[in-house]
Amino acid sequence: MAWALTPLTEEQREIQRVARDFAMHEIAPHSAKWDRDAYFDPSLVEKLGALGFLGMLLPEEYGGLGLDTLTYLVALEEIATVDASVAVMLSVHNSLPTQMILRWGTAEQKKRFLEPMARGEMLGAFALSEPEAGSDAASLRTQAVRDGGDWILNGTKAWVSSGTKGDVILAMARTDTPDDRRGARGISAFIITPELPGYSVGKKEDKMGLRASPTVQLHFSDMRVPGNRLLGQPGSGFIYAMQSLDNGRLGIAAQAIGIAEAALRYAASYAAERKQFGKPIKEFQAIQFKLADMAMRVASARALLHMSATAKDRGEHMTQFSAMTKLLASETAMAVTTQAIQIFGGYGYVKDYPVERLFRDAKVTEIYEGTSEIQRIVIARELYSH
Ligand code: CAA
Repeated sequence: MAWALTPLTEEQREIQRVARDFAMHEIAPHSAKWDRDAYFDPSLVEKLGALGFLGMLLPEEYGGLGLDTLTYLVALEEIATVDASVAVMLSVHNSLPTQMILRWGTAEQKKRFLEPMARGEMLGAFALSEPEAGSDAASLRTQAVRDGGDWILNGTKAWVSSGTKGDVILAMARTDTPDDRRGARGISAFIITPELPGYSVGKKEDKMGLRASPTVQLHFSDMRVPGNRLLGQPGSGFIYAMQSLDNGRLGIAAQAIGIAEAALRYAASYAAERKQFGKPIKEFQAIQFKLADMAMRVASARALLHMSATAKDRGEHMTQFSAMTKLLASETAMAVTTQAIQIFGGYGYVKDYPVERLFRDAKVTEIYEGTSEIQRIVIARELYSH
């Protein structure tokens, strides 16, 4: 069962219960079908908005719940134990676009976007990567050029989660010029909405896992963006994206731990029922050792996540903690789902049982919001940076 490093408060337990009940009643009955059909149910956004879950980290003045980071992550883990596709939609929306507008937006931008985002009337997305710029995010090529008071954007963004439904997309584009390239400092952040002329949704990826979370390319073709959609300072967009990913990576860690927790529970109960050689397989040490290692990994990853959540709320520098937490949690998800399949044997390899989906969903947590290799680079760099 989920536990915290320090006991959760009554309010935290209440939010956890709300998340669990919502996941059991509104998500669990549909998850297998949504996965099979690669279907994203738009009514979920409305329902999660009504619950306050799309404004978990926003202050009450913008219609948010104003939760602390630990409470948010505990709720996110609960949702992820049932459906990791729903969890990534929540994680991206709550950790990236809403937080970017809250932190760097003008009063006008906050008023225009944050309340509808908190209510679930607008879903947020984050567009940093491009077909040729993945781990090397600063090499992105989407170009923004000044035209009077507006900007004209051209380029293609890739791997955009919630992209078919994205109503407010925080997109990074170059604002330096070919004659004066400034690397990471030549990138700015823009608030994009789908009605802008020149915006179109491109290829929807046919993914191994997280199939109920639509991942798309976005095309900007001479897209005219009003000047008041620039976020913060020109040339600071890459820094904003990196600082925001320090938050986002905690959300992905909570998602990964939810996946691992679910795999552990399914494997433990299957091992108690499944009989071979005349007794339940949980009686065999080979299985006990696997379950013990799985439980230990989940507990360790959760402990680090909860420590990071409280460090973040104390205002500590999060780059290294976030990278460590995401790395441990995603490798835990992969290791635990792999062992869960092994415990299920052949039944783990077919779609009749949910561990097969958990295994597919786990893999991407080692890839998106920075691969495990990038997390190791970030952790190692931070060792020498202070
Ligand atoms: N916080 C604040 N500033 C940061 C920072 C951070 N965490 N990381 C870097 N910066 C700053 C640096 O200090 C530097 O600033 P100065 O110009 O003042 O020196 C500037 O940003 C450039 O930094 P680097 O020189 O370190 O840049 P780099 O090109 O070497 O790249 C990297 C660093 C860590 C490899 C980075 O590119 C990275 O994180 N790559 C992975 C990208 C990623 O996570 N993509 C995920 C996309 S979102 C997604 O997955 C989809 C989804 O919707 C779920």
